[in-house]
Formats: sequence, C-alpha cells, structure tokens
Amino acid sequence: MNVLIFDSPKEATEAAFDIVMKRLEAGLKTIGLATGSTPLKLYEKLRSMDIDVSHVTTVNLDEYVGLEPSDPQSYNYYMNEELFKYMNFSATYIPNGVAEDLEKECERYEEILKNHPVDLQILGMGPNGHIGFNEPGTSFDSVTHITELTPSTREANKRFFEKEEDVPTKAITMGISSIMSAKEVLMLAFGEAKAEAVRRMIDEPVTVDCPASVLQNHSNAVIILDKEAASKLG
Ligand code: F6R
Repeated sequence: MNVLIFDSPKEATEAAFDIVMKRLEAGLKTIGLATGSTPLKLYEKLRSMDIDVSHVTTVNLDEYVGLEPSDPQSYNYYMNEELFKYMNFSATYIPNGVAEDLEKECERYEEILKNHPVDLQILGMGPNGHIGFNEPGTSFDSVTHITELTPSTREANKRFFEKEEDVPTKAITMGISSIMSAKEVLMLAFGEAKAEAVRRMIDEPVTVDCPASVLQNHSNAVIILDKEAASKLG
C-alpha cells in the first residue's frame, strides 16, 4: 500500500484528483466509483473540468435495496446529481436496488464487471472498516451480493435520511473479490471518525473483521488520508 497523508481533506482531494486525471489522460477505460460524503469534492472538481469521457465507462460499488433510482437517497440519484449529468461517460452502471429478482441482479452486475474490468477503483471506508457495503465478516472471495447493513453503518448513514427508520436495512454491493480485481485502487478516508479503521487497515494484520485491511494484499493500492484519519497510525 502506498499511504499518502495530507494536512486537510482539500489537499488530499487534490492529490486524488491529480491521480484520476492522469489515468484519464493515459486512456483509462473503466472507473469504479463510490458514493458517500468522502468523494463529493473530488466529483465537484471532476465535473468542473471540460473533459471528454465518451470512451470511459463507470461502475458503482453499491446501491440500497428498495430505493428507486429517482429516490433522492438512492446512490443512482446521488451519482446523477454529483457527476453523471455533467459528463459524457460512454456508459454508467449502478446496481438496481429495486430489481424484482435481486439474486439475478447480482449476477447481471457481476457480468457487467467481467465485461468492464475496472482500471481504477475509488473507495471510501466505513468507520467499521467496510468497503463498498462489505461489512466486517464478509468473505474475501465474495462477488456482487445482497448484504444486511450493520446497525453501526445504518447509524453512520442516517445523516442522509430524515429518520433512522428510513435507512434501508439491505444493499447490493460489489464483493471484496470484485473490488480487488481492479487494477488500481484509490482509497480516500478523512476525519477522526475513520482513524481507528484506518489504523486497523494499515497497521494490523489482514482480517475479515476489517474488510479494508484486504487492501494490504492489493498490488497497486494508494491510500489518501488527511492527518485526522491518519492520527492513530503507528
Ligand atoms: C459508498 C460506499 C461506502 C462508503 C463509506 C464511507 O458507495 O461504498 O463504503 O464509501 O460508507 O462513507 P462516507 O464517505 O459517507 O463516510
């Protein structure tokens, strides 16, 4: 893992942006995207650029089960608002959380990933070390699947919803093995709330109890932190 630490989320985001731009200039074909608050400024910078991405496909990590793409809390909606409506991507894929047959939807999504191998995967991490919605305990062999969100993840994400009861209990997520297939991974983590998970990801042995620790096994993972997220590193 290549760990880069910056004074502020702003500087960290600029470093991430430079990497993304370099890969786009070098002809990246498929980029894996995350939602949540961490990459918001990165997407703001990307959408302000006048760049042609008509040769680039995007694949998102996850989507809540039960939310229509038109639901403002859905990740489909988030991606449209934050990035897609401003940019001319060739194709954009996000799991369908309201598919009639969710198991088939997982298979369909895994097929999409096979047809569009990810060159660069952007990741955030949960305070419990989740990546995508792969909660602690998820097998490293997992592919796209339906997952039950832990109480701590529902708690962490309730800030986006009116009431805690509105936070979905399930999600479709790329699995850990799907994520690890990316040629390069760019993980961003900011703020003190992530510091303990960051420490476990980097300083502790690889374990399913901290899914992000699997990135120690990736041959090309860049971890971009602000100093608060890095504050517990040894
Ligand atoms: C989102 C995702 C999640 C988030 C993580 C951090 O698509 O896969 O793993 O990256 O929950 O969320 P924020 O950035 O809101 O702290």
